[in-house]
Amino acid sequence: MNKQIILLPGDGVGKEIMESAKLVLNVVASEYEHNFTFHQHAIGGDAIDNFGTPLPEDTINACQQADAVLLGAVGGKKWDSLPGHMRPEKGLLGIRKKLGLFANLRPVQGFSPLLHASPLKEEVINGSDILIIRELTGGLYFGQPSERRDNGKTVVDTLYYTREEMERIIDKGFQSARIRNKHLTSVDKANVLESSRMWREIVNEKSKEYPDVVVDHLLVDAAAMKLITRPNQFDVIVTENLFGDILSDEASVLTGSLGMLPSASIRRDGVGLYEPVHGSAPDIAGKGIANPLGMILSAAMMLKYSFGMEEEAAEVEEAVHETLEQGFHTEDLDIKGGKKVSTTEMTEIVVENLTTKSVSN
Ligand code: NAD
Ligand code: IPM
Ligand code: MN
Repeated sequence: MNKQIILLPGDGVGKEIMESAKLVLNVVASEYEHNFTFHQHAIGGDAIDNFGTPLPEDTINACQQADAVLLGAVGGKKWDSLPGHMRPEKGLLGIRKKLGLFANLRPVQGFSPLLHASPLKEEVINGSDILIIRELTGGLYFGQPSERRDNGKTVVDTLYYTREEMERIIDKGFQSARIRNKHLTSVDKANVLESSRMWREIVNEKSKEYPDVVVDHLLVDAAAMKLITRPNQFDVIVTENLFGDILSDEASVLTGSLGMLPSASIRRDGVGLYEPVHGSAPDIAGKGIANPLGMILSAAMMLKYSFGMEEEAAEVEEAVHETLEQGFHTEDLDIKGGKKVSTTEMTEIVVENLTTKSVSN
């Protein structure tokens, strides 16, 4: 298959781990006789420095015409004092909104070789396998007005959702639960927020259309606690934008590192964007020690969701698992007796495992 892939490396470690994804995809292309063409474009701080805006028109157009988009990460201290509309993060929010990517899928799995890499007890995380579905283009992130008032004496951010925006993401939650373990946990703050009360009503209405899915509701504060005390009781979690952002970083603790988590940002049809859950990690950027696995697993999600390449995606995931089983890890993972390697070494080992696997097939 011929596929046009847009690469948006962005800032900090985003640039380093994008190289890893490219290397892995090139191996997939040659092993499976696909033709992947990569076009790199600017976003975030990198785009501010080179084009004076965090999201150049050229980047938007390229993404709209592509088969899929891979994104590294945006942001960094250098741009932190810019006004809100000029920050690197606005580039990321802008491209999600422009492409209509309302559903963000964030799978969290306790990888068996990493069970003791988490600060949580092994018996607590063993067997946990969660899919967090985060609404991505609404809520507090996009509501207007969002501004300072009265000479800085007051400030307002707006939490705005339409019923349709809630319905489509909740539907995605039910559909995903249906093809997994048929258990959907809806997370809200219905004891306080009107938006959450409407969300909960819609979940209850929709549950009649999905009688095979068991639904429960959790308030977000309790969900934050249960996620790390009883992660095994979750299957699919569906929640609004900000809650999903926070809970997914928290859930990364189950895997031992934020650097492990991939994500897919999708809509009903059309182009998808794939990015690790973590940010530009300014504290380790430029040191060559970033964990590339969240990015590589995001590329695997692209193969599966955008290109329908289930087998290729599974091979990449297997190569990652094998690498971890062999004891290799980057510095962010605390593994006793493991073999600590750099970003590029880790990538080379994944590539080697992928090559060996494909050849033996
Ligand atoms: P962060 O996710 O960048 O880093 C949090 C911690 O996790 C740091 O200690 C970092 O070193 C570590 N970490 C993250 N990714 C890692 C990896 N691949 N390997 C090893 N360790 C890793 O969050 P932050 O420090 O709060 O934010 C830094 C910048 O990134 C901010 O400007 C923020 O806005 C931005 N950000 C961007 C995205 C994105 O582009 N999707 C996501 C989150 C944060
Ligand atoms: C993420 C990030 C972004 C978000 C920021 C950088 C805008 O934290 O992708 O999780 O909050 O969505
Ligand atoms: Mn986040």
